[in-house]
Amino acid sequence: MSENILNLKDCLDFYILSGVDETCGDEPYACLKPVSEEKNELTKNKIPYSAVAGIESVKNAAALCQNISSIDELKKIVENFDGCALKYNAKNTVIGDGNPKAKIMFIGEAPGAEEDMIGKAFVGKSGQLLNKILAAIGLDRDHCYICNILPWRPPGNRAPSDAEIAICLPFLKKQIEIVKPDYIFTLGAVAANSLLEMSETVSKLRGKWMEYISGDGRNIKVMVGYHPAYLLRTPAQKAKMWADVLRLKNEIDKNN
Ligand code: URA
Repeated sequence: MSENILNLKDCLDFYILSGVDETCGDEPYACLKPVSEEKNELTKNKIPYSAVAGIESVKNAAALCQNISSIDELKKIVENFDGCALKYNAKNTVIGDGNPKAKIMFIGEAPGAEEDMIGKAFVGKSGQLLNKILAAIGLDRDHCYICNILPWRPPGNRAPSDAEIAICLPFLKKQIEIVKPDYIFTLGAVAANSLLEMSETVSKLRGKWMEYISGDGRNIKVMVGYHPAYLLRTPAQKAKMWADVLRLKNEIDKNN
């Protein structure tokens, strides 16, 4: 082995030890430095200036959503949206899965590796557990609409920043207006806190009905639950999740 190859191996070992276990693109770039718009230097994998201009991006996302009335239209808008840097590391834009006319909406955090690869929400291990949870109360994806706070995977599944959540929230809110669910079940703290504008643990918020008022003035019942990924890591909490999805089922049955 030549010295260069040995150095390369040492370098990769160092990255792995430091927690860097995947590449985000073929070419390095400075993700915190805006690319000059004047010189029109935008190329694949370079982040446009609008992507780092947080407040403008939130306003743009909300404005772009204004006259949309279908999930297909929304998907096109989100795919063409340049205001969130996450898009530039993701393979796919992941909007909701399931039935866009469903009365029940499940909201997670962000696509993971499998979801990013395939372009569909909750298809990996968390999604498989979610399917089982749905089946346990007699539901499947035809009965629900399943989506995320963010349509793009944060690199390496890192936690999304407040700015990324704020930028993408208008897209989620528009999905709620289009689908018009009667019930929302949030999965994990990021989904609950982003939707309800709170800053609490799931343990504090779960177990009781809460309320979300959609942009079109509808009162939607919200139940906060644990994220399936957390349940996979902490199976002892599955009993609480079971109690929460039963609350959802009982409420649906009561009103049918
Ligand atoms: N975790 C989420 O929050 N959403 C997905 O779509 C997959 C995993």
